[in-house]
Amino acid sequence: MSAAPFPNTARVDAFDKVRGAARYGADRSPPGMLHAALATATIGKGRIESIDTSAARAVPGVRLVLTHEDLASEIKPAGYLMAGGYASNGLQPMIAPEIAWRGQPIAIVVADTLPAAIEAAALVRASFAVEPIAVELSAEGTQTVVQSESQLPKPMYEDIVAGDADKAFAEAAVQVDAVFTTPAQHQNPIELVGTVAEWKDGTLIIHEGTQNAEAMRHGLARQLGLTPEQVQIVSPYCGGGFGQKNSLQIYTPLAAVAARRVDRPVKLVVPRAAVFHNSSFRPASRHRFRLGADKSGKLIAAIHETDSQSSRHDLFPTLYAETTGHMYAIDNFRGRERLVRTDTQAPGYMRAPFEHVAAFTMESCIDEMAYALGKDPVALRLANDAYADPISKKPFSSRHLAECLTRGAAMFGWDKRQMAPGSMRAPDGTQIGWGVAAGSYKAATAPAIARLTLTDQGRAIINVGVHEMGQGIRTALSNVVAAKLGIAPELVEAEIGVTGASPQHLTAGSWGTATAVPAASEAADAMLKALAELGQSDAAGRKPAELLKAAGRPSLSVEIRRKAPGHPDQIFGRLASGLPSAMGPAYPEYVSFSYIAHFVEVRIEPGTRRIRVPRVVSVVDCGRVVSPRTATSQVQGGVVWGIGAALREASEVDPRFGGFLNADIAEYVVPVNADIGSIEVGFIDKPDPRLNEVGVKGLGEVVMVGVAPAIANAIFHATGKRLRDLPIRIEHVLDKGDL
Ligand code: MOS
Repeated sequence: MSAAPFPNTARVDAFDKVRGAARYGADRSPPGMLHAALATATIGKGRIESIDTSAARAVPGVRLVLTHEDLASEIKPAGYLMAGGYASNGLQPMIAPEIAWRGQPIAIVVADTLPAAIEAAALVRASFAVEPIAVELSAEGTQTVVQSESQLPKPMYEDIVAGDADKAFAEAAVQVDAVFTTPAQHQNPIELVGTVAEWKDGTLIIHEGTQNAEAMRHGLARQLGLTPEQVQIVSPYCGGGFGQKNSLQIYTPLAAVAARRVDRPVKLVVPRAAVFHNSSFRPASRHRFRLGADKSGKLIAAIHETDSQSSRHDLFPTLYAETTGHMYAIDNFRGRERLVRTDTQAPGYMRAPFEHVAAFTMESCIDEMAYALGKDPVALRLANDAYADPISKKPFSSRHLAECLTRGAAMFGWDKRQMAPGSMRAPDGTQIGWGVAAGSYKAATAPAIARLTLTDQGRAIINVGVHEMGQGIRTALSNVVAAKLGIAPELVEAEIGVTGASPQHLTAGSWGTATAVPAASEAADAMLKALAELGQSDAAGRKPAELLKAAGRPSLSVEIRRKAPGHPDQIFGRLASGLPSAMGPAYPEYVSFSYIAHFVEVRIEPGTRRIRVPRVVSVVDCGRVVSPRTATSQVQGGVVWGIGAALREASEVDPRFGGFLNADIAEYVVPVNADIGSIEVGFIDKPDPRLNEVGVKGLGEVVMVGVAPAIANAIFHATGKRLRDLPIRIEHVLDKGDL
C-alpha cells in the first residue's frame, strides 16, 4: 500500500517561534505579578525539626513565606501518575515535615522581584533530623521489589515470557551472557519547569509548559479542593518535554496557593539545579542479558533480567522486556524486572525510557553473537527477522525493519566494512569503527475528541487533545486537515494544550501523531460530509469557505471521537478525567511497533583517545510520514540524544549526601554542535492502515532507540573492546600504551 508523500512544508509555527511570538508558560507576566523562589532540603532524608523564616521575611520586598507548617491542610496529595493519580511524585512536598530526598522543597518565598525572592529563599534556615540514605542501585539499605509480584497492575506489569528460555539457552550452541549498567540521566529541555499561577473569580489559571494539561487540571483540582471546571491550564507550547513534563509537577500547587494567599499572579521558574531534584529522571539500571543461538545463527533463546531504580515512596514500573521480547523471532524468551527503592524523587519517563536502555543490552549482545558466529551483524538481524510477534503469536500491524536495515546499509556503504575489529584506520592512526543496531518502540494510541471549525473567511480550527512540545504536531495536523479540505496548511490553526474544550490527554509514549492526526483526519471527513449536506454544489471546485458563504453560514463545526481498536467506550470517561488512557503495542488483532536501524561511524583519535561520531545513517519505519520536515528534525534530535546517552550523559550521585551533583548543563554534559557530524535520515514511509486510516505509527521515541548500541558496537569494531557501561568515555578506550 502506498500513498502520495505529504509535502515538505515548513513548520506552521516557525515564523512565530523565530520572532518570539510563540508564548511559553513563563513568558507571561500578567499585571501585578510577583515572583517566587524555593528553599530546598540540604539533607538526603529525614525530618524538619524546626524551620526559621524570620531572616527571609525581613528581606525588603518579600510578601509571603510558606512552609509545611502553613500548608498541611491546604494542599492534598495528587497521587502518583503510575498509581492512578496525576503527579510525577506521589509525595507532595511541604505538607509534612518529612524529607524523602535531597533538594525537596521546604519553603516558597514570594516577593516583588526575583532577586528578592532568591535572596530570601537562601535565608530560610531549617534544622533536620537526619536518616541514613541509599541512593545508588547497589547501596546498602535499598529495597528490591520483583515487579511481577508487586501491587502494580497486571497483566501490564507481568513478566514477559514465551517458551522455555532457560532450557533453550542452556542447550544453545553459542551463548552470550553479559551484564550492562546505565546511569541516571536527566531531561534538560531548554524550557525550565516554570509556572505562572493566577486566580480570577475563583478560577485558577495556570500557564505552564506541559505534556499533560488534563492531568494538571484534575490533579490541581484534587489538591486544592476545587472542581476541575475551576482550573484552566494554558500550554499552547512546551519548550521540550521528553517525559519531564508528562504530569503535574510538585511545584505547581505551591505557586497556586501562594498566588491565592497574596491575591496576585505568581511566577515560579524552577532553576536547573532544582529541576534535577524535583522533576523526573531516567532511573539508573543494571541488566543481565543472555542470548543463545544454534550453529546456523538462528537465535533460539533470550533472557533479560533488570534492576531499575525507583523511589522509596513510588514504584516506577518498567517495561524493558517489552522491547527485547518482541524484537526478533526468538521463540524462547524470559523477562524479569525488579525495582530498587532508593532515596530520590520518583524517577520517570525520559525519551525512550526503557527502549533505549533495553536496546543497548540486546543489540550489544546481537553484535557479540554475530562475532561469535562469524556472521555480518546486519545479516544476522535479517536472518532472525520476525514475521509475527514471538510472544503473543499475533501478526504485526506492519513491520519494515528488514527494509530499514537493507536501505540503511546501502546508504551507509556497509558493504565496504571489514569485519575484523581494529581493521580500519585513518593515515594518522585514528581507529575507525562501523557499527549497526536496530530499535523498536511501541505504536500506541490514545483516545481523542476532535472538533473542527471552518469559517467563511477560509480558516480551519482543529481542536484536539495533544501538546506541541517542539515535535511539530501543529504542522502534522495542518498538513492532514489541509490536504483533506483542499486548503493551504497555513490556513489551519491547531488549538491544543489548553484545557476547556477537547480533553488534553497526556502526549507521550510516541502516541501523539497516531492519536491526534487520525482524529483530525476523521473530523475533516465529517466536515466534508457536513459541507455536502449544505446543499451547495462544489462542481466548480469551490473551496469550503465559498460553500459556507453560498449557504449563508459564517462557520460550521463538527466533532468526532476516536479510540484505539479494542478500547472500551468507558475509555472516554478516563480521558475526561485526565487519566492516562493509551493502548498499545498489543491490540486485539495485532501488535504494533515502529522500527529503526542506525548505522554509525566512530573515530577514536590516537593520543587523546577522544571518541567522535562523524557520521550516522538512520532509516525509520514509523508508518506514514505526515510532516516530512519536522519528522526529519525529530530523527536528528533523537540521534543527537542517543550520542549524548552513549558518550556523555550521566547524573552523578553522592552516596553520602544524596541528590545529584552535576545539576546544571555545564557539568551534565550533553552533545554540542561540534560533537555532531552528518546525520542522514531515511523514511520507509509505508502507511500502516490497520492501525489507523492515516497509517501513522509513531516517531518521537523510536528515533533514539538503538543509537547507543550502534555506537558501542562501532567502538568494538574500532578497538576490539566490548563496553557495556554507559556512558562510554575516553578512559574506557584508553590503554596504558596510549600514555
Ligand atoms: Mo515520553 S518519555 O513518554 O514523554
